[in-house]
Amino acid sequence: MIIDGKKISQQILLEVKEETEKLNRERNIVPGLAFLIVGENPASLSYVKSKGKACDEMGFFSVTEKLPPETSETQLLRLIEQFNKAKRIHGILVQLPLPKHINEEKIIEAIDFRKDVDGFHPINVGKLVAGQKCFLPCTPSGIYELLLRSNIETSGKHVVVVGRSNIVGKPIANILLQKQSGNAIVTIVHTGAKDISHFTKQADILIVAIGKPNFLTKEMVKQHAVVIDVGINRVEDLSAKTGYKIVGDVDFENVKNAASAITPVPGGVGPMTIAMLMKNTLLSAMGEIYK
Ligand code: GUN
Repeated sequence: MIIDGKKISQQILLEVKEETEKLNRERNIVPGLAFLIVGENPASLSYVKSKGKACDEMGFFSVTEKLPPETSETQLLRLIEQFNKAKRIHGILVQLPLPKHINEEKIIEAIDFRKDVDGFHPINVGKLVAGQKCFLPCTPSGIYELLLRSNIETSGKHVVVVGRSNIVGKPIANILLQKQSGNAIVTIVHTGAKDISHFTKQADILIVAIGKPNFLTKEMVKQHAVVIDVGINRVEDLSAKTGYKIVGDVDFENVKNAASAITPVPGGVGPMTIAMLMKNTLLSAMGEIYK
């Protein structure tokens, strides 16, 4: 089975749009999302553009602050403070990575955790680990939704996560570990392992978020495992108009016959991230996570 992230994300967006209309009708609330982007990283610019477009389609209010690469930490902190106070804004997203002269941790901590729709603030991270209600980071919650809506059982299954990033590896491991959302047996493996394949071969569900193009091959996968590819890697492709193509962390053609279910790239996890961002912003506007 090929897991169609595009289709599942469209279903979620439809649900968000309907809920947004209802919120507007019944409580006169329009969800509002603020984007802050510093510098000209092409991938970041393209992500923020897509997220802004999704806001328009949902009927959200959105503001994008495109700041020059030399923007100071103080300037960025001031803008965050304004959005923290703004009544119309229910979500604040600072696109990462930030330029080197800006302290990422300090910026994330400056965001009001009640508007942290990215789920990166230490209060939300801590609540996730403690099993409390909080904003879940968008890519991991998108992966969880993909599994749920594809009827893939996680309870009692051995999930192996490849990669330990704060954005994907650590949070998806914690989501699937919780009794109420996953109840899986979770292993996290990373570049520190002498033999990564020793661990990946034991997985019923393999989640690969290591940022290396075509890293995972069929020799590393147990027969009939579920394979979730979180990679978005730009590799040179002279036949493409742009000069590059996007590939995942999984060698899809090589692995697809060994797997019982697999996500493609593009069209797998990628579109889920934006859908979950829209959902988090809606939940924030509804006061569903924090009053
Ligand atoms: N950079 C890569 N992924 C993300 C994300 O989900 N949110 C933000 N803010 N930056 C990112």
